[in-house]
Amino acid sequence: MSNRTISKILPAQAVPEGKGVTVHRTIGRPGLSELDPFLLLDEMVIGADDAGTGFPEHPHRGFETVTYMLTGSMRHNDTVGNVGEIGPGEAQWMTAGRGIIHSEMPTSNGVDIRGFQLWVNLPAADKMKPPRYQDIPFADIPTVDGDGYTARLVTGGLLEQKGPVNEIAVNPLFADITLSRTGAATIPLPVGHTAFLYGIDSGFDIDGQHVPPRAIAVLGDGTTVTVAGEKDTRFLLVAAAPIGEPVARYGPFVMNTREEIQATLEDWNQGRFIGAA
Ligand code: FE2
Repeated sequence: MSNRTISKILPAQAVPEGKGVTVHRTIGRPGLSELDPFLLLDEMVIGADDAGTGFPEHPHRGFETVTYMLTGSMRHNDTVGNVGEIGPGEAQWMTAGRGIIHSEMPTSNGVDIRGFQLWVNLPAADKMKPPRYQDIPFADIPTVDGDGYTARLVTGGLLEQKGPVNEIAVNPLFADITLSRTGAATIPLPVGHTAFLYGIDSGFDIDGQHVPPRAIAVLGDGTTVTVAGEKDTRFLLVAAAPIGEPVARYGPFVMNTREEIQATLEDWNQGRFIGAA
């Protein structure tokens, strides 16, 4: 057994996104342009009084978007006909595949909206598959009790349990973890998988290094990670096997080559995305 240490700590960068939203970006920014198979990680914060802000209609192709809410709620609409609303502790997993146009807009009144959006790449063989959408209600997300921690498991496996998201190409571990006592908790991770942690309300320590909130801690390889902090310290733990293919990205489109991006832009401009006018 080998304990993982931190290979990089990077604070989030504030980036304007959508309509009037500032996101706090840790993957997909200078210093960490990607973290195979992850392409982007944003912490979204929308104030209760920021009426009309959000993410109006926009396209995606070639990867998957995962939304996980902490407070408030957001409503999803897409050109495949899916409509869904997710609130605190709920998730949405959208496989853009060959193309989808969607909107993600706040629906809660008087409550600050806070959540995460993670982009997970698709292997070349899956980039042009039909789009797919999964809503994951609170009750479907199991809680796993570990030694010194509890984990809400959105996807992937941990301590013999599995999350409810199914049939996705890259099957990451996506867990919302809380320390159940002050001290250190050791969590198993698959060897060779890319892995990172992100503090939700407070920082924590790994191998004597402090990770502040609103920052990503990327881990080196190993079979476990030991996280130390006060009782109720809460963080995301995400891990997956790298895809190992070339990445060509242009805004909301992520393919393998520049030629494929060019073809995607032509498809988009000519209305060949599903449901496009
Ligand atoms: Fe989107």
